Formats: sequence, structure tokens, C-alpha cells
Amino acid sequence: MPDIETIRKDFPILSQQVYDRPLIYLDNAATTQMPETVLRRLEEHYRKDNANVHRGIHILSERSTESYEKARDTVHGFLGGGAGSEVIFTSGTTDSINLAAFGLAHTLSPGDRVIVSVLEHHANLLPWQRLCAVSGAELLVLPCPDGEPDLTQYEQWLSEGRVRIVALTQVSNLTGTVFPLRKMSRPAREAGALFLADGAQGLRHETAPVEELGCDFYCFSGHKVLGPTGIGVLWGKKEALELLEPLRLGGGMVDVVQEQSYTAAGLPARLEAGTPNYSGAIALAAALEYLTSLNRKQVSDREDELLRYAEKQLSGIPGLHILGKPQERAGALSFTLDDVHPFDAASVVDKFGIALRSGTHCAQPALASFGVSAALRLSPAFYNTFEEIDEAVKAIVRTKEMFQKWTKKS
Ligand SMILES: Cc1ncc(COP(=O)(O)O)c(C=O)c1O
Repeated sequence: MPDIETIRKDFPILSQQVYDRPLIYLDNAATTQMPETVLRRLEEHYRKDNANVHRGIHILSERSTESYEKARDTVHGFLGGGAGSEVIFTSGTTDSINLAAFGLAHTLSPGDRVIVSVLEHHANLLPWQRLCAVSGAELLVLPCPDGEPDLTQYEQWLSEGRVRIVALTQVSNLTGTVFPLRKMSRPAREAGALFLADGAQGLRHETAPVEELGCDFYCFSGHKVLGPTGIGVLWGKKEALELLEPLRLGGGMVDVVQEQSYTAAGLPARLEAGTPNYSGAIALAAALEYLTSLNRKQVSDREDELLRYAEKQLSGIPGLHILGKPQERAGALSFTLDDVHPFDAASVVDKFGIALRSGTHCAQPALASFGVSAALRLSPAFYNTFEEIDEAVKAIVRTKEMFQKWTKKS
């Protein structure tokens, strides 16, 4: 991986001043920034090749289609998908999970069971809640005491039978817990369940081929891996994807249409009705190529180091409570401060030029499991520096002291 100064030059957004201070962007679990190569690929596509894909036979449509399908191959290669699997482009992780969940509705009966964990982002909870409500299946929410999944309870549920689907996050967006997916997917599949991993926070961390994780479905969002918003992926084993009833019907996903009926096309078109976000897919491919060119393992290792450093610095602050003590943490950590609401703290540290996330993190049951309703979150990416973490820690300490002073005065 090149040195950090060289890397940071690739990200024009990082070199700006906010409130007359250098921007320190530590909200990468919400969205990552795009390097020049991605911005350029997007612009070039619109300047030179833009035309709808799989619809025309003119030169622009052919170029656009070729780039779109090449992007699919790039994503497949990046994931280490394997021959019996396919990439479906979606608008993001939320869309991918909805596509999988509602596509499987016809496979569930009353009394069947679906397992998720209490640490899920709402995107990997609400679709399963609805699916269970409409099918009569039961939703089992795995406890994660101290941010670690309860594997004894998990195996107990699997041994009781009728578990049809297990849907788990790869890395929690709240605690950064790295779920032991290999360990959890094997018994699930042996029990006859389909296994879906929400890779939104995990893909920058885990570099092993997705096949190795034992998933039937794997979902992620482009904007969390240096790509643009509005593009995401549902990767799946072909036999699992073939189980899915298309959620959206319309152009591009059919073979023959008559007034009263249609026959659906094969994969991947069957699950991509309507004009896809082809420019987003092409830019996503550029983002994945960029990550590959940096060396994915080194990217992941640097992010782990930055997070460990942040955890060490923050855990020394009296009155600061980090949520969870998972065996392995990646990407993000969340915390509360005595006597300071996370929204207040985030708006003060913002004035120091530091972008942290505050609020519910779209993970209300996860927060409730720690007895809180909001938290602050710090999530570094490889383009952050240790000095930036120091600045953020200093700003958090100053914010805490300011609030303590005000509380004493009032
Ligand atoms: C773990 C996890 N799953 C799903 C999502 C939803 O991603 P998107 O909003 O891109 O669909 C997020 C977004 O923060 C996430 O962190």
C-alpha cells in the first residue's frame, strides 16, 4: 500500500477545511469517500458512453452494456464468487435484503423459523419481521451479551429444527462485532437453512472469498466500499437465487410477454427489472479495482490498527463507555458519555471539524440491549491517520469537560 500522504491525495474531499479547521472524517461506517479514479470513471461514462443497457444495438448502448457486464464480473471476482454463483445489482444493502427476504416468502409456512441477531441494522431486521408476519413463521432474535453472539442459544435453536433462514450481519455497524460467520453458517446449512450475510460493514474487513464464509446470499452497498450511493449487490449461489420470486416486475426481466402473462428471463436479468443503475455499477467496479490495487489485506489491517488505537485512547477517558466487548471488533466502535447526549456531543465535535455519527444508528434493538437509546460512533477508514484519531479524542474530552462545567453551573 502506498504511504498515507499519497493515498490521501486520491481523495479530494479529505483536503478541505470546515469551520476553518482541517476536516477529520470519521463517519466511514455511514458512507466512505470516493477516490479520483471512481469520480473520473463516473464522469467519463456520462461524457462518452452513456446509453441504456441491454436495450439498444447502437454503439453507445453496446459500450454501456459491455461496461455494465464487465462491472458485474469485477464484483464477482472481488467477492471470490465461484462458478455456481451470480451477482445481482441492486440499489444497496437494504434493497438486496428486501429482494432476498420477500423473494423467499413463498418458501415459508407457519411454524417455520428465521434467525437474526439483536445487533442487526434495521435493514436486516424489518424485512424478516414483515416476512414472518405474512408467512406465520417465527422470528428468533439471537442475544449478543456484551456484543458477542450467544452461540449456545444459536445451536440450541438450530437443533430444535424448522429453521429455514439465518440472516446475520458480518460486522455490526454499532459495536463493530465481527460475527464468526464460518462457524455459524456451517451448522445452519447442515440444519437445512439458507444463510444470508449482511456484508455492508464487513466487505472492507474480510478479504476471504465469500464462498468460504458459507453463505447462500451476501449483500453489500457500493457507498461503503468507496463507490457511489444508489448501487449495491445481492450475491448468491445460483440455486439460492433461483428460489427467489422477483420482487419487481417490468422491463428487462422477461423473455416473452403476452397480454395476460409473461415468462421471466434467466439470472441475473430476472431479478433486475427496470433500468439498472449501470453508471453506479461501473463506478463501483472502479472502486473495487482501486481497493484491490492498494492490497485489500493491507487496507483491512490498517483499519484494524486505527480502530484498536482509537479504542485504547477512548477507553482511558473517565465517564466514557464503549458499547460491547466483542472478541473481534472491526470498522466501528460506539460509546456514550456520562451527562452528555450523543447529539449534543456530535454537534460540538463537529465544530472542531470532526465528523462522528450520533443517534440510533438504525439499530434500536441493538442499542436497547445495552440499555441506551443513542450513542456516538467513530468509524475510521484506511485513509484516516493516527493524528486524526488523537484530534478526535482531544475534541471528545474537551466536549465532555464543557458539558460538565455547564451542568455544574446550572
Ligand atoms: C450493517 C448494515 N446493514 C445494512 C445497512 C444498510 O445499507 P444501505 O443504507 O446502504 O442500504 C447498513 C448501513 O449503514 C449497515 O451498516
